[in-house]
Amino acid sequence: MRHWQDFLKDEAGTQALGMALARVLAPGLSIHLHGDLGAGKTFLTRALLHAAGYTGRVKSPTYTLVEPYTISLAGQMVELLHFDLYRMGSPEEFIDAGFREHFGTGKICVIEWPEQATGVLPAADIDIFLNAKGEGREVELRAHSDLGASCLEKLHLSPNL
Ligand SMILES: Nc1ncnc2c1ncn2[C@@H]1O[C@H](COP(=O)(O)OP(=O)(O)OP(=O)(O)O)[C@@H](O)[C@H]1O
Ligand SMILES: [Mg+2]
Repeated sequence: MRHWQDFLKDEAGTQALGMALARVLAPGLSIHLHGDLGAGKTFLTRALLHAAGYTGRVKSPTYTLVEPYTISLAGQMVELLHFDLYRMGSPEEFIDAGFREHFGTGKICVIEWPEQATGVLPAADIDIFLNAKGEGREVELRAHSDLGASCLEKLHLSPNL
């Protein structure tokens, strides 16, 4: 499956998607989250991290630009980096901060506002688009690599999505 879309009618729908994604994560996966302010990118990432077993607080990395987490995938400890590039001044800042060095190392990267690092951000395995519609959110997932496609293949979406 390379493309999937649905309507998340409330927070529980986004939470269910986060849980579904947590079950199909693979080391090295890079997920770009697209959508306006308040679309639910951090909310989805928080749901994913909690479903992946992280019990602490998941803050928005608005000012730090990145927050690191360690999660367990099938008994293997994997680092997950949650980026929010909204406040980055220029794509060069991404290079200067050494962020590129995290990619291609088996870490999972989840990136809010990837548009802020156009040209310097490594390609996504999966793009997720969130759009406010009525009281809920339209969501679209697109895989761009075999790794991303194999993750989306495994998504077993719950009936309330
Ligand atoms: N499916 C949904 N239906 C309605 N509300 C939702 C849904 N999913 C998430 N929300 C709400 O949307 C809000 C989105 O906040 P969130 O901080 O995740 O947005 P964001 O996309 O990360 O914004 P920013 O770009 O400012 O970081 C949350 O408070 C949550 O309650
Ligand atoms: Mg956010």
